[in-house]
Amino acid sequence: MRIEPFGLERWFAKYEHEADIMLAESGIRSLDASRFDLDPGKLGYVIPTNGDPELRASVGDRYGRSADEVLFTCGTQEANFLTFLSLVTDHAPPGEDGIGAGTHAVVVTPTYQALHAVPEAFGEVTRVELSPPDWRLDPDAIDDAIREDTAVVVLNNPNNPTGRYHDAERVRAVYDVAADNDAYLLCDEVYRLLSTDPQPPVASLGAHGISTTSLTKAYGLAGIRFGWLAGPEPVVERAWKWKDYTTISPGLIGQHVAKQALGRREDRILSENRDLANTHRDRVTDWIDRHGLDWHEPVGVNAFPTVPDGFTDGREFCRTVVEDAGVVLAPGDLFGFPDRFRLGFGLPTPELEEGLDRVSRVIEPRVAAVNGKGEGA
Ligand SMILES: Cc1ncc(COP(=O)(O)O)c(C=O)c1O
Repeated sequence: MRIEPFGLERWFAKYEHEADIMLAESGIRSLDASRFDLDPGKLGYVIPTNGDPELRASVGDRYGRSADEVLFTCGTQEANFLTFLSLVTDHAPPGEDGIGAGTHAVVVTPTYQALHAVPEAFGEVTRVELSPPDWRLDPDAIDDAIREDTAVVVLNNPNNPTGRYHDAERVRAVYDVAADNDAYLLCDEVYRLLSTDPQPPVASLGAHGISTTSLTKAYGLAGIRFGWLAGPEPVVERAWKWKDYTTISPGLIGQHVAKQALGRREDRILSENRDLANTHRDRVTDWIDRHGLDWHEPVGVNAFPTVPDGFTDGREFCRTVVEDAGVVLAPGDLFGFPDRFRLGFGLPTPELEEGLDRVSRVIEPRVAAVNGKGEGA
């Protein structure tokens, strides 16, 4: 078994610490800890280790599922990891828990690297690559890629890096393809609640639907490392079995903050965060237009525009921006598209403004040089 290095994390590890402005963060800016009570009492494990039953019941309601169909995890990352462990590596004797065995996954790309690298390490992956400019999802392409040994089809909606939010009808069609082939549809929905019009989560679509998410991106609570998976009980049960060997329980302080964030305060937090995302999206749209770049207008706070003229590719552009202007962007080759870069606009407004201005100051002389050369030739 071999795992690819996580390219995006390595890029951030190289540049983020020294840079002034992080303009590649994919989530909304972090909330201040002072907004929450941080004292859960005695600092033991969460008991039971799959999470507080009442909170699981209330999270389950969001999917039309019971408390036993929800497992709390350390973020979406662990929720996805446990789902892959359960479906792609774990072959219980046939019929033991009703989950079909399979080592193959179909993954819709471009996407967050963990969603294809982990199943690639455990089994075999067929990618269904979407294309710009609109990154449209084609259920027939999923149908062509699916095999008898496909355990799971993987989608991230809204998507990182493109910001594409596939509509409910297409997602339903993909769900039907998965279900007809006795595979699960796993949808990473970590950006879903940044949409002002969220679609039904995949775990609510039927027996083959699994949703993963967390309080990281839409709530601005990455540091509490609190997320979950919701889906059919045998899958959740198997994921819990694996979780005993990863992190045992979710973090107690994370769960304590999650109870507050998912309770009375939720509407306020989400509407604040959506307002910030919407205002910033308008601001970034102006910036994109001003520099003549192409993009798909995103849901969430990730943009995936084309690289400005005058740069060889996204890597050269992002390296120049971070070295000359102290601003971190993410090169598109990390997602398989070297002619693009990812920009995150969920950060506080003054930082966004400063970051965009600094990037403009890197772009403008290069573009002018290209245009000057073009006129002279
Ligand atoms: C699609 C996607 N899933 C999962 C994660 C990790 O999120 P979490 O903090 O919930 O583990 C990210 C982070 O960028 C992401 O973009």
